[in-house]
Amino acid sequence: MPESTPVKRTLGVCYYPEHWPEAQWAQDAARMAETGLTWVRIGEFAWSRMEPKPGQTDFGWLDRAIDTLGAHGLKVVLGTPTATPPRWVVEKYPDMLALDKDGRVRGFGSRRHYCFSHRGYRAECARIVGLLAERYGANRFVAAWQTDNEYGCHDTTLSYSPPALAAFRDWLAKKYPSPQLLNQAWGNVFWSMEYESFDEVGLPNLTVTEPNPSHVMDFRRFASDEVVAFNRIQTEIIRKFSAAPIAHNYMGRVTDFDHFAVGKDLDIASWDSYPLGFLSDRIEVTPEHKLHFMRQGDPDNQAFHHDLYRAVGRGRWWIMEQQPGPVNWAPYNPDPLPGMARLWAWEAFAHGAETVSYFRWRQAPFAQEQMHAGLLRPDSVAAPALAEAAQVARELTGMPDAATGKAEVALVFDYASAWAWKTQPQGRDFDYFRLVTSVYRGLRGLGLNIDIIAPDTADLSPWKLVLIPGLATLSGPLAAALAAFGGQALFGPRTNAKTADFAIPVPLPPNLPGLDCTVARVESLPPDAQVPLVGGGAIIHWHEVLEGTADVVLSSASGAPVIMRSGGLSYIGGWLDPVALAQVLRAHCSQLGIPVTEMPYGLRRRDSATHRFLFNYNAAPVHFEGITIAGAGVHWRPL
Ligand code: GAL
Repeated sequence: MPESTPVKRTLGVCYYPEHWPEAQWAQDAARMAETGLTWVRIGEFAWSRMEPKPGQTDFGWLDRAIDTLGAHGLKVVLGTPTATPPRWVVEKYPDMLALDKDGRVRGFGSRRHYCFSHRGYRAECARIVGLLAERYGANRFVAAWQTDNEYGCHDTTLSYSPPALAAFRDWLAKKYPSPQLLNQAWGNVFWSMEYESFDEVGLPNLTVTEPNPSHVMDFRRFASDEVVAFNRIQTEIIRKFSAAPIAHNYMGRVTDFDHFAVGKDLDIASWDSYPLGFLSDRIEVTPEHKLHFMRQGDPDNQAFHHDLYRAVGRGRWWIMEQQPGPVNWAPYNPDPLPGMARLWAWEAFAHGAETVSYFRWRQAPFAQEQMHAGLLRPDSVAAPALAEAAQVARELTGMPDAATGKAEVALVFDYASAWAWKTQPQGRDFDYFRLVTSVYRGLRGLGLNIDIIAPDTADLSPWKLVLIPGLATLSGPLAAALAAFGGQALFGPRTNAKTADFAIPVPLPPNLPGLDCTVARVESLPPDAQVPLVGGGAIIHWHEVLEGTADVVLSSASGAPVIMRSGGLSYIGGWLDPVALAQVLRAHCSQLGIPVTEMPYGLRRRDSATHRFLFNYNAAPVHFEGITIAGAGVHWRPL
């Protein structure tokens, strides 16, 4: 990870001046400053107020809002409003609305109602972004930008609309020199799916049974490229007028587009962290775990995303939206334990965040998110998180600049592999994100710092141990880096199991030079099925039959090879349960001289460049290494 210049750690908040009477703005700004906040993100949904009618703009209110915030010493993150095109834009381009997989229009009346491929909508976005950039590019209070809002939120990356179809055909014609080569790449001879022209290719929905997986994969690659192109239009315009850094606010567990590719056009990666919402509906854990951490959030989920977005941001990352109290959108929306709004912020800082910005300043009494807490209640009385934010602000004054701690372990994360295993799970429970996060949990349970790295990482020398689970296709740069790597690499299951065209490679996977190990057969396992292993633990969800002459370092209870190894390369032929995984990780760390600590349940550790942090996600205190950490408490000491 490149060294970033030290940046002061700061707090911020998301604010919607257009929701409140102008007379209130100055009081709000004064109170934000008094709380110790530095940043205020505004503007990202305000297009109907910036341009109420086509070409009829009104930026006066935004000028005054920015001035008011700036006058109180606050810095503004200005959002481009393209996630919420107003009604008149939709009237102008009725076909800009996305179609879902079933061909239904995703209509006006909430947000993100656009198809990334619609050229007219892109031009409209370029226009409004150009107006904003020109007007505020040199504004001394506008110190950062945010493009759009949460690309992919509400399942909006993939659109099956006519503009998407036209753009997909163009994309294919650029990728493949001829329809015959497309046919060959996709294997279209199967079921007589061959095409004579790119114009005959449709979108991979509304087929009788499953579409060709190579077709689906190309459609997903195309859709991801469309997000990159859409975002790039905005960054290129903003950069013409402004030297301020540009961010986008990504989400938790959204894998439909390649965030690394989008991130290359941005200066800062940020993500929106809603620990209780995620635990309630986006993580596969037991009901007991959900209950135990219901008011705290999963102890590993935030950290995983922090490490992921540090990689996406090439070292620079923020929390753009931090949950302050109950949200409105999960199946159940409990109140966080007192202390969690502080703990979550400190955990982000421990992982290298520059800024943590709470969502939102004041709870809105109207519209979709009226049940979503803010730092203030709708009546402006402080909600519990306000005092916690103020406490973090005070504590920050005694802390050094943001600086990421060193990790000896790296874990590869690849968006295309998430698409691959969504396209062909071959078993209901095989989910790439779940697989990678299960490995991440295992590492965190041993108290380790972890770097998440991109699938085209070309130099592995900073790490001793590199884990590469489920990487569908090994990239050229990573293969070269592995050949030069002096540490230990742990692959599998399903690593290098597909060609770039999404076919089974021959020689069969994993086909790793220097490791004579072949996956002869695979099987997926239903929920309660297990393949028990020698020494305890078991394979769950996914099991591979391995052949070859490499050393067998772990076997199943029935004597079949489960991990095969040669020199620094090891291949795991299955999805290890937490017990087996911990044993394998411990053994590798001990061989590599990486110190591990068995972390107590719900207690997590992270070293920044200067401090060791402990986060107690339990409601009850934990005693650990001679100290007591209060429930929902944070402890740190200089390294
Ligand atoms: C985020 C979004 C915000 C707000 C928030 C509520 O997904 O960016 O605009 O909707 O969720 O939790």
